Amino acid sequence: VRRITVPEIAGRKGGQPIVSLTSYHAHTAAIVDRHADFILVGDSLGMVMHGMETTVGVPLDLMIMHGRAVVRGTRRALIVVDMPFGSYEESPAAAFRNAAHVMKETQCGAVKLEGGARMAETIRFLTDRGIPVMAHIGLTPQSSHTMGGFRTQGRDRESWPHHIADAVAVAEAGAFAIVIEGVVEPLAREITEAVPIPTIGIGASAHCDGQILVLEDMLGLNARPPKFVKVYGDLGAQIERAVEAYATDVRERTFPDDNQVYR
Ligand code: KIV
Ligand code: NA
Repeated sequence: VRRITVPEIAGRKGGQPIVSLTSYHAHTAAIVDRHADFILVGDSLGMVMHGMETTVGVPLDLMIMHGRAVVRGTRRALIVVDMPFGSYEESPAAAFRNAAHVMKETQCGAVKLEGGARMAETIRFLTDRGIPVMAHIGLTPQSSHTMGGFRTQGRDRESWPHHIADAVAVAEAGAFAIVIEGVVEPLAREITEAVPIPTIGIGASAHCDGQILVLEDMLGLNARPPKFVKVYGDLGAQIERAVEAYATDVRERTFPDDNQVYR
């Protein structure tokens, strides 16, 4: 097996929908690897794995630790690692230095960063120098402080040209795909029609060229998932039952039993 490449993902525009999930650790990544086209090591790991309120506090080293784990656990999917807040906004040169560090340390195939037209110069700088970039527009969680929270985008039609211009700008700058997060359905369709690269939707309707969800959300590990999540699993309840059964067994001395004892 060889890994799915960046050009293969880019070539899926308008074709068979691109399947993607996040993963932050080796064992879940190995499962996702058998089914997804690309796996995102998202900075959502700050909230999901580390209990942070937002993604703003995620350090670069943490992305590298989880990125390595996911690359090691997989062999087929393209691995994309999120650039965390503060690691790429300052200048194209700073972005290149940090993105190159992420790629060297994790051996991932691409990075993702948030922002539209304002990041176009940086996206051009990275892609010209060998770093494939996935863009991320619409609801951009790293800007939650300036946006006043996590807000669905495009409810007002006046904002549509701005979002469409963001998509066109990152595509022209060389991004190979765009995550569109938390935008109303007709805007997601217009953005998808406006760019020659695949759009990957999360809370952005079925009109995108692919979909992504946070794995823990779709597995039922998040007690309060966002509206756009379809919950496919029941892992929260399963873990609860297993832990409860273990606790009972220990208290009643029924674990370990003959099967788990060295004679
Ligand atoms: O960090 C993340 O998980 C993401 C996806 C939700 C697109 O950026
Ligand atoms: Na992210």
